[in-house]
Amino acid sequence: MCSENRTIIEFKDIVKVYGKANVKTYALNRVNLNIKKGEFVSIMGASGSGKSTSMNIIGCLDYPSSGEYLFDGVNVDKLNKNQMALLRRNYIGFVFQGFNLLGRTTALENVELPLIYRKTPTKERKELAFKALKKVGLESVIYNTPAELSGGQQQRVAIARAIVTNPLVLLADEPTGNLDSIKSIEIMNLLKQLNEELGITIIMVTHEEEMAQYSNRVIYFRDGHIESSLKKGYK
Ligand SMILES: Nc1ncnc2c1ncn2[C@@H]1O[C@H](COP(=O)(O)OP(=O)(O)O)[C@@H](O)[C@H]1O
Ligand SMILES: [Mg+2]
Repeated sequence: MCSENRTIIEFKDIVKVYGKANVKTYALNRVNLNIKKGEFVSIMGASGSGKSTSMNIIGCLDYPSSGEYLFDGVNVDKLNKNQMALLRRNYIGFVFQGFNLLGRTTALENVELPLIYRKTPTKERKELAFKALKKVGLESVIYNTPAELSGGQQQRVAIARAIVTNPLVLLADEPTGNLDSIKSIEIMNLLKQLNEELGITIIMVTHEEEMAQYSNRVIYFRDGHIESSLKKGYK
């Protein structure tokens, strides 16, 4: 998938401060960032360097203290909580280290969930959920609950749930953090395939250089700022 020149994520001098006057922590200190449609970006950096804070702002889960955040050209700082929630629901898919699936619920029902929030009619909802599960290679286990699936399969369900709404951006925070290396590589190949075939923009936090090799740019954070941003060839 060749990336267009459309900027999806833009940070202009983003600052995020925690704490009060005399004990301020600059989690992000004047960060400028520009991610284009179709990119697959890894975010790396030491613990405490600002990765999660960035992902929370990118994912419209938190506001910056100052600076401007544009999501697909929309100034997010001007949106209220409800508008932020709508933006998340319609345009952003989330994948977490711990999968975050509903336990006593089948894979199909887990993937249907975002469509229930969107009030998609039942028949269409089931079809879309099945299609998403097929895309991640799980068509044979759609009626299994998470406990009946391996860790790698659970993360595939979570990825299917994240892409079922056809989001602009997929945010993945340490998606392979709970998986062994073989399962991790399977998940990375799946993400790369989704990026190439669907053109979905992916932003992933990882501390493993091997996983970052699957993306086409690696952004290194250090002490709340971007230390480097390096383009790479796909693995
Ligand atoms: N809710 C919070 N309250 C106070 N300090 C925080 C909070 N969240 C993050 N921080 C601080 O901001 C800095 C960046 O944190 P974070 O973005 O979580 O880093 P990373 O994800 O790279 O480990 C750290 O110094 C951290 O302690
Ligand atoms: Mg973190």
